[in-house]
Order: sequence, then C-alpha cells, then structure tokens
Amino acid sequence: MKILITGGAGFIGSHTCIELLTAGHDIIVVDNFSTSKRQALYQVNAITNKKFKVYQIDMLNALDLEKVFLENQLDAVIHFAGYKAVGESVTDPLKYYSNNLISTLNLCEMMQKYNVKNLVFSSSATVYGVPKTVPISEDFPLQTLNPYGRTKLMIEEILGDLSASDSTWSISLLRYFNPIGAHQSGNIGEDPTGVPTNLIPYITKVAIGELSEVQVFGNDYPTPDGTGVRDYIHVTDLARGHLMALEKVVQTTGIDAYNFGTGKGYSVLEMISTFEATSGVKIPYQFVNPRAGDAAICFADSSKARRELGWIAEKDITEMCEDSWRWQANHPHGYEEKVKEYAGLQ
Ligand code: WQD
Repeated sequence: MKILITGGAGFIGSHTCIELLTAGHDIIVVDNFSTSKRQALYQVNAITNKKFKVYQIDMLNALDLEKVFLENQLDAVIHFAGYKAVGESVTDPLKYYSNNLISTLNLCEMMQKYNVKNLVFSSSATVYGVPKTVPISEDFPLQTLNPYGRTKLMIEEILGDLSASDSTWSISLLRYFNPIGAHQSGNIGEDPTGVPTNLIPYITKVAIGELSEVQVFGNDYPTPDGTGVRDYIHVTDLARGHLMALEKVVQTTGIDAYNFGTGKGYSVLEMISTFEATSGVKIPYQFVNPRAGDAAICFADSSKARRELGWIAEKDITEMCEDSWRWQANHPHGYEEKVKEYAGLQ
C-alpha cells in the first residue's frame, strides 16, 4: 500500500517508517523539520535500503498539502505531525492549538476531498490525565491537564465526529504511554531540542556528561520507592503497533482507540538503576519537588490491542535502556553533528 506519514522524521515517525518499508509498503513523508531532522530520514533509507518521497512542507499550508494528494494515489495516512512538549504548551498554548488543530483539519479536509479515509492517529495516554486507578483501559474517563493534552483530546473528538458523520471513514486512535529506546542500529533515536523534559533522554545526557545529575521529581509518592511509576514502551514495539493498526484500519470502518503500553510500571529509581546496570555508567541524581501535573502511577491495560490487533510489546526495560544508550553514545549531539557534516558546516 501507499501510506502518507506526516511527521515521519520524528522519533516515533522515523521508527514507523522503518517498519512500513520493511513490510513492503511504499511511504511518502511530510515533515516541516521544525522539531525533527532530515538526517533521520537519511538513516531510514540507510537502514532499509529503500527510497521514498519526502515533502518538506508545513501542513498549515493547505495548498502545499494538497500537492501531496494530487501527486500520490494514497491508501492511508498515519498522522504524527504536531508539537508535543507539555511545558511549552502551557506557556504558549496558541502555538499548540493553531499548529496541532489546523494542520489536522487541513489533513482531514484533503483526505475527504481525495477520498482517502483510512487514518491512524498518534494520540497519547495524556488524554487520561491523572487516573483514579491503574491499569488504564480505553473506556476510562478522558480528562486533560495541559494544552498539549487538550489538542490530542480535541483531535480525538473531531475524528469521532467525522466518523459519525460519514461511516466510510476508518480511524484508529493510538494512545502511547512512555515511548523510549531506539532502533537496534543505534543510528536513529530520540533527539530532543535543548534540555530534555522526559526522563530517559535526560538520563542519557547525564550519561554522556552533558548534564550533571538527574533531578528526581518527588520521592514521597504512594509507590514502592516513593518515585513516579510509568509504563515505558520500546519505540520499535510501538512502531510495529502502527503497522498492525494500519492493517486493521484498511479492512474495517468506524473509529477505535487502543492503549500502547507494556502493562508494567517502573519507577524513576528503577529506570535509573536499570540504565546504570546496562550502560555501566553511574547516574548521579537528587530528589527535588514533584513536577506539577504528574501522576504518581500510570500504566496501561493494553489487552484490547492484543485482542483486536494481535499486538503485544516484546522488549523489556533492559533492552529499552540498552538501545537508548547505544543511540546516545553513538550520537552525543543527536543528528546535529551529521546535519552539519552533511551541510559542510564543519
Ligand atoms: C516520567 C517519570 C516524572 C524527568 C510525558 C508527557 C506525555 C507523553 C510522554 C507525549 C515521571 C519523572 C521526568 C526528569 C523525573 N508525551 N521525571 N525527572 O511525564 O510520564 O509523560 O511524556 O505524548 O504527554 O506528559 O514522561 O519522561 O517526563 O516522566 O523525575 O527530569 O520521570 O516525574 O514520574 P511523563 P516523563
């Protein structure tokens, strides 16, 4: 099949490109490279030895987006493109609402106009807010705590209305828990801009000596060691899940949500000690105040994805830490160094 991947140069997008190309699909990537690097796509090509079209466009420009639909006979779309920094969304909500919502509306209008009605949407466990109990299943109440999370929930509701208005749409909402890790090659991975806000990229920056110590946000949560518990999922397992959701979405109609997590929760201190054991690098840390909006414990019931998509997470936290470290150790400055070399800036 011919699949449009928006945000295909991003962390989860680039790993999904690899899974789709390896499964024999043709892909077309749309990305504005505002929070990603073209070098990620060069690595996708190097890893898979497959060529694919890349359109460097901003999805806020409907005319540029229409060009993609005019030039390619698409079978389905996987929509990753969007801003995703929780903290930034609080300080600059308009940036998040206009970018994430308008680009999605432009995409849906083009899909409708060109009769491409199979969509896999990159949603997030953030739509559950702070859960009352765990594990979290798809029928839990949806409540969001920040503008970023609200854009994800609003898009889920827009897509729900679209499906209700036209039963020929087929839509899969994938709610990720905590994606970490990297492709086993060590040549693509998470490449956050500036100081990482998420735990694992922060730990790997400490491991390469770029940051001095991990600030552990709170150690008196009602958890076994007092630190926050999350459901970490290997990005390659998550990418495989997109392939399986795609295969289902092209055979059915209607709209469905799926939790993508392992169903196991690990604390901050467990992640630090697992990373130390796999990398051999000591990770200094200190306890600081809890981060506003953080839940104590959050992990998935992903039995629906297993039942309906045949998907199950295969990689454990040791492999996640090994792969995260291999990527960071190979590329201490992420893709930047390659882009400079590539552009002859060094
Ligand atoms: C994990 C644990 C922190 C950093 C976020 C977004 C969510 C989704 C995934 C997009 C928590 C603790 C973290 C640090 C720490 N993103 N921590 N020190 O908050 O579960 O989810 O990323 O969809 O929307 O909210 O992930 O990695 O930030 O935190 O102690 O420097 O690590 O308190 O317990 P989170 P995280």
